[in-house]
Amino acid sequence: MAADQAPAHRAGGELPVTGIGIDLSEETIFTWGAPPLKFGAGAVDEIGFEMAQFGARRVLILTDPQVNALGIPARIAESLTRHGITSEIFDGVHVEPTDDSMDKAAGYAREQGPWDGFVAVGGGSSIDTAKAVNLLTTDGGSLMDYLNKPIGAGQAPKQQLKPLIAVPTTAGTGSESTAMCVLDVLSMRVKTGISHWRLRPTLAVIDPLLSLTIPPEVTASAGQVQTTAGALYTQSKAGTVGTFSVVLTSVNGVSANGQTAYFLHGTATVTLAGQGTAAPSTATITATF
Ligand SMILES: NC(=O)c1ccc[n+]([C@@H]2O[C@H](COP(=O)([O-])OP(=O)(O)OC[C@H]3O[C@@H](n4cnc5c(N)ncnc54)[C@H](O)[C@@H]3O)[C@@H](O)[C@H]2O)c1
Repeated sequence: MAADQAPAHRAGGELPVTGIGIDLSEETIFTWGAPPLKFGAGAVDEIGFEMAQFGARRVLILTDPQVNALGIPARIAESLTRHGITSEIFDGVHVEPTDDSMDKAAGYAREQGPWDGFVAVGGGSSIDTAKAVNLLTTDGGSLMDYLNKPIGAGQAPKQQLKPLIAVPTTAGTGSESTAMCVLDVLSMRVKTGISHWRLRPTLAVIDPLLSLTIPPEVTASAGQVQTTAGALYTQSKAGTVGTFSVVLTSVNGVSANGQTAYFLHGTATVTLAGQGTAAPSTATITATF
């Protein structure tokens, strides 16, 4: 099994490791996995070429209504056509997907299929929905079969999924690189997911010009996710977080072609209470962005 496909294990699987002169009382081995990434202004117009490399003839493009209205999926369809690939656009992705919305997307894909590949264009909601559709239409079964235990059965996909090209139009979730999809299970009122290396997109195409239309509140949410993740990382490494605050000092926009991208500036401050040392200590970490 390749490293990308297995969890990290220390030989013997036990901690702490002693007798080597280094303190390894914490797990220090991890596996980093990511798909190939094509980045650059205009990269979205190369998706037809990329999909043709996988031998695909018929492709489903998944997106949400707002991103569809921007014309990006139609542009991808044109690129596919230039390389002899037929495609359809499904714009029924639910923002913050649910088991119900993913089932509906998979139902559409089953009825209109078969498909040789998928393109997900949008934020984490579109990419996660495409991962679930790829899984359910290729490997069969229902969402409950694959959802993480104890919510679902935690079943692993039995076979290789179809090529999935992920085209993020937001920044923050990283779903174009991850091996998981996240959804709300409505009847249980929980947010959970499916996590398996076979879900990871085959290729990520990141075209920064697609982010020019992101609404400020979506940018702000992504920024908040990043700073919270930073605080949690700091907490796990350095001690217990006493306080965590983010102060926004300014929001400015850069306009091009009548569209504006918003950038947030401010300061994030984390106050730490030390742990595991002879004398209790505190520290403040400040980062500006
Ligand atoms: N799979 C993962 O690894 C992972 C990680 C973190 C979060 N998530 C999931 O991702 C989802 C959130 O995704 P998100 O924050 O990227 O946004 P989103 O996909 O939920 O979209 C948010 C809104 O922004 C709009 N939008 C997106 N791109 C736009 C653009 N370029 N111009 C104009 N409008 C645009 C969408 O139409 C939508 O209305 C959540 O469901 C979350 O659970 C997944």
